[in-house]
Order: sequence, then C-alpha cells, then structure tokens
Amino acid sequence: MKSISYRRDKVLKKLWWKEEVVYQIYPKSFYDSNKDGIGDIQGIIEKLDYLKKLGVTSLWICPIFKSPMIDNGYDISDYIDVQDEFGTMKDLDTLIEKCKSLEIKIILDLVVNHTSHEHHWFKEALKNPEGPCGDFYIFKNGKNGKVPNNWRSIFGGSVWEPVPNRENLYYFHTFHKGQPDLNWENPNLRREIYKMINWWLEKGIGGFRIDSITFVKKDQDYLDSEIDGKDGLSSVKHKGRNRPGIEKFLYELNRETFEKYRCVTVGEAPGVPYEQYNQYIGKNGYFNMIFDFKYADIDVENGSEWFRRTNWTTKELKEKIFKSQEVFQKIGWGANFLENHDQPRSLTKYIRDKKYRNHIGAKALGCLFFFLRGTPFIYQGQELGMENFTRENINEFDDVSSIDNYNRSILEGYSEKEALNFVNLRSRDNGRTPMQWDNSSFSGFTKGDKVWLGLTNSLNINVVNQIEDINSVFTFYKKMIELRQNSNYSEDLIYGDFEQIHSDGDLIAYKRGENIVCLVNLGDSTQNIKLKVGEILLNNYKTLKIKENNIILEPYQGILITKGE
Ligand code: NOJ
Repeated sequence: MKSISYRRDKVLKKLWWKEEVVYQIYPKSFYDSNKDGIGDIQGIIEKLDYLKKLGVTSLWICPIFKSPMIDNGYDISDYIDVQDEFGTMKDLDTLIEKCKSLEIKIILDLVVNHTSHEHHWFKEALKNPEGPCGDFYIFKNGKNGKVPNNWRSIFGGSVWEPVPNRENLYYFHTFHKGQPDLNWENPNLRREIYKMINWWLEKGIGGFRIDSITFVKKDQDYLDSEIDGKDGLSSVKHKGRNRPGIEKFLYELNRETFEKYRCVTVGEAPGVPYEQYNQYIGKNGYFNMIFDFKYADIDVENGSEWFRRTNWTTKELKEKIFKSQEVFQKIGWGANFLENHDQPRSLTKYIRDKKYRNHIGAKALGCLFFFLRGTPFIYQGQELGMENFTRENINEFDDVSSIDNYNRSILEGYSEKEALNFVNLRSRDNGRTPMQWDNSSFSGFTKGDKVWLGLTNSLNINVVNQIEDINSVFTFYKKMIELRQNSNYSEDLIYGDFEQIHSDGDLIAYKRGENIVCLVNLGDSTQNIKLKVGEILLNNYKTLKIKENNIILEPYQGILITKGE
C-alpha cells in the first residue's frame, strides 16, 4: 500500500522548486567588485562560476533595492530601483540574464510589511497624515499624554514614534523606527504592492522569499497587552503577528500575484503554530514553503528578541527536527536551513565541543540538515564551515538588534560581560561578516583598503584553501548536492518519504525513501546503532566502524548510507 501512495505522491507533486538547492547571498558581504568595502551585484556576477561549481540551482538574494540601509536593505525606499552601493538595474538585469544561461533561478527578497521612512509614500504621509498616503501607514493619537499602547518593537523600545511637528500623533513600526509599517487594511495600498510584485515577476525572476509576512495583520483595537519586560513594554508579537484576519490578506496576495506565475514563494512566517501550517503551505496555502524557526532558535530564549541562553540537549533538537519534518511531510513542503543572515554560524551554535568546531563538525551538520525532506537552503560561507567571531566591545557591532539586545540585557540586570557574551554568541553580525575567498588581505572579499564589517577570527577557512581539497567542507557540500540532484539516489533524496529511526543519546537517525539512511552523532562520545550497511554514500570520517551489524559512530561522525540486505 505504502509504496503505491508514495509513487502517486511523486507523480502528482513533482514541482520544480522541490528539486532546487538554494544558496542565500547577503550581497553586502558576498564579494566587493569595486573596492568600496561593500559587496555588490557585479561581485555576485563574478562569482557565478564558483556557485555553479558548488552545484546550487537557485540564488536567494537579500534586498538590493534602494535603501538608507538602517537594517541593511530591509528598509526599502524604492521597490523598483537598485541601491547605489550594490550597482544599477542594468547590473541586476545582467545578473538575471547570466543566471538564466547557467540555469540558475533568482529569488528576490520581498519586504512588504514595512518600507523605509525614506520611501516617498512615507514622506508624503508625514506631510499629510490625513491624506491618501497617510492611510498607507498606521498613525494613531497618543493616550493620556503617552504613546497609543505599550507594544515593544522587535528591535526594542516602543512601536510608536512621534510624528514631527504634530502634537500627540504617532506612527507605527514593528521593527526599527526607520521601518514604518504599511497599513494592509487599505485596499489601495495592497493594490500598489501587487503591482510592484507583478512587475518583478514579469521581469522573469524565479520567485520571492517573503519577509516578516506574519506581521502584516495587527489587532485593530490596538489595546495594551501584558507587560513582559523590565522596560514596561509588551512584545508586538502578542497582538501584531499572525493575527486573525491575516488569511484574507495572504489569500488575496497569492491570488493577485504569485498564483499567476510559475514562481516559487518561501515565506518567512514566524509565529505560525503547526496547527496552522495547512493555511500557509497546505494544498491551497499562501506559499509554496515556509521556514520553520523552532529548532533554529533552540539555543536562546527567543530568536529575534531575547538572546539569553538555554541549556538545550541533542534530544530536544532531535525531537524538534523530527516534529518539523512530520508536519511538513503531512501538510506540504519545507524550506530547510542551518543558517541565514539573522542567525549565528551553525558550527558555533550546534557543535558544543570546541574540538569539533572544524571540518568534522561542519560536515556532520551539513549531512544532518541537507537530506531532510524539503528544499535545502545554504547560506554563504556555510559551505566552508565559517564560524562566529568574538568581539571585545559592543561598539564593534553593526546590527541594530544586537545593540538593542545588549542594552536590554543590561537593563534586565546582567553585567556588561554577560550581555556581550549573549551578543557574541547570537548576533546577526556573526552571519554577516564578509565571505572569505582567499588568503590575501580581507580574505579576498575586497581588493580595496577597508571592509564594512570586521572579518571572523579564522581566516584560513576560505574558498581557495578548500575548492580543490577532496577533504574540505566545500567538497563535502558539493558531493551532497551532487547526490541529491544528480545521482541514482536523487528520486529518494528529493521525493522519498521521511521516517525517523529511533536512536538513543546524541545520535540522530532518519530514513529517506525505502533505503537511504542518514546517521549523525551530535555528541563527543561514540554512539552505536544496529543496522546493516549497504553502500556508504557519504562519511565525514575516513573510516566507518562496524561490529556484528552494529555501526559505531565516532564523535560528530555523520554518514549517509544505503541499507544492507
Ligand atoms: C526579517 C529579516 O530576515 C531581517 O533581517 C529583518 O531585520 C527583518 N525581517 C525586518 O525586515
């Protein structure tokens, strides 16, 4: 029975975006072609051969649109223009063209919960909050001489900012005050957004990653909610994220834009409980896939808001990964990732024994995540095993949320040292340090004499040292991609059912399709499992110990095998 429905599933649900391997580019830090210390679109073009060699098939490019760059491009001042430091629209067209000829699709970042405060709509709105552009944003009167309510923005402080030269009037921002929220309640605004999205889709891009989309609906009463910090505020998440009524907006968004094209959509949809995944990625869902942050945030109390540490265990991590896979499999398709531009490096996060924070640990993690059911997303530098940095002073950080977290930790009673430690371990800057290409100055990221953000401490982890080395993390990633995309095992690795295998201790084990098994020991002592080995497809150690049908995995050993008879 099982194999018949499995086969039917394969026939009915074969879709191009399920067969992609996506590489995420943070353009500011990828490659600087014009020596100004900032990465750019020409820089991406120059590195396409590298990406092709790695074998990835899609690129998700973080925002390259016009922006004052308060949040590194997630504050857009013109949706259909390119930020000067990244290049021109002509450069972008060239990138799209070149990618097409290499059969690489481009996924752009769609940021429509908010704009920049420099967007012309917002400038108009400030001039005349009662006018048509005023209703594109959210303006409210203060209460009793104070801001309209007690909601805290994601980057700290009130969500309300006073409107200059207006008594008792405020505008709303979920994130930074330079990122005023758009008023999705207004149908004219929504129409403008759809027009812009379709303009990009007509240009021939592959699709969108959709930023912070669960924030577009707020409770319209705008009442106070329960205080949850010593700042006397209450997270905007309680009444301003994934709220009832969002279904109307997202259904319409999909109908008016994405559905008309054969594009891919990946929602950044934090705060959606598993019970609601069907709405988001089910048969008639708003998006093709979403990211699940439940295990990415295992090391901290709250991924985007609180960097205080947890004492997580491998057992918990395993349970979270398996639960996530179970839901994705039942309902639709997942976007699997280890890292992104909002996360620290996975090697530092998940490999707790420092001895293995090297190619062994990086490959074990790669093996664990890459073969999960869903489309794998690789973040720049992850394929090299890039690590976190350690900064000595809060002034060395660029990221607005890291600075806020530091200040809030101190307000909550932590020492400067503790606060700095939280930020060092979790800061978004960890994933944003310039990509390391070679052994020259600034690791070859730029040929100029400056960089916008300091590099990591381990400069020997770079492309030139790894690209031809058969034992490198790069080569391991290349092999993983080759196995998934272009081997006798592709069908099972892409479309095969996911099934967890019971295992004790720090061992994480799962099966794909009928015959492929992934085993990863995420601990520093050996782990055993009774299983017959057929073929060894991947191994991050040189050997594999087998004793009377028992596989003995070394610390942080990760393997992909077929089951033996
Ligand atoms: C999520 C993005 O990934 C993050 O980098 C950004 O700061 C916020 N959304 C606001 O756009």
